[in-house]
Amino acid sequence: MNQVMEALLKRRSIRAFQEKPIPREEIEQIVEAGRYAPSGMGRQTWKFTVVTNREKIQRLATAIEKVLGRENYDMYAPEVLIIPSNEKTSKFGKEDNACALENIFLAAYSFGIGSVWINQLQDICDEPQIRAILDEFEIPADHVVYGMAALGYPAADPKQPNKVGQVHFVQ
Ligand SMILES: Cc1cc2nc3c(=O)[nH]c(=O)nc-3n(C[C@H](O)[C@H](O)[C@H](O)COP(=O)(O)O)c2cc1C
Repeated sequence: MNQVMEALLKRRSIRAFQEKPIPREEIEQIVEAGRYAPSGMGRQTWKFTVVTNREKIQRLATAIEKVLGRENYDMYAPEVLIIPSNEKTSKFGKEDNACALENIFLAAYSFGIGSVWINQLQDICDEPQIRAILDEFEIPADHVVYGMAALGYPAADPKQPNKVGQVHFVQ
C-alpha cells in the first residue's frame, strides 16, 4: 500500500492527547496542507487561524460550554487548534472548509499527530461571548467557523471504525 493510501485508511479521530508540544515546523506543514485543499471555483475565501496556546484554546472551550450548556467541555484539551473560517456568504464555504480539514487531518497523521473534527462552533459563532474570542483570534467578523481541527500526540489507541460506506460498481 502506498503512503497516501495508508494515511487515508489508517487515520482515525483521536480524542485523548498527550501534553507534548508539536514542533512549529510540523504545525506549519499541516496548515499548508489545508491551504492547498480544493476550494469551489478556486475562490479560497478561507482563513486559517492556528492557536497554540492551551489556555486560549480552553477559554474558547469554556465559552462553548457556557453557550451550549455542556459540562466540563475541553475539546479534548488539544495541543493545537486549527480554525479554518470562511466568509458567511461564500457559496462553497462549508465544503471548502471540510476539504481543508481532511487535508489537515491527513497531514497530521503523516507526522504521527492525532486529530479530530470539532463541530460545535458553526451555529454559535455570533453568540457575543464566542465572537469576542474569535475577534481576539483575529477571525474576521464576516466569517463563520464550520469545523475546527484539534491536534495533539495521541494518548490512547484510536477506535477502529465500526462501519464504512457501501460501494457498488456498475459495469
Ligand atoms: C462533519 C463532522 C463533524 C464532526 N464533529 C465531531 C465533534 O464535534 N466531536 C468529535 O469528537 N468528533 C467529531 N467528528 C468526528 C467523527 O465522529 C468521526 O470522524 C467518525 O466517528 C468516524 O471516525 P474516524 O474519524 O475515526 O474514522 C466529526 C466528523 C465530521 C465529518
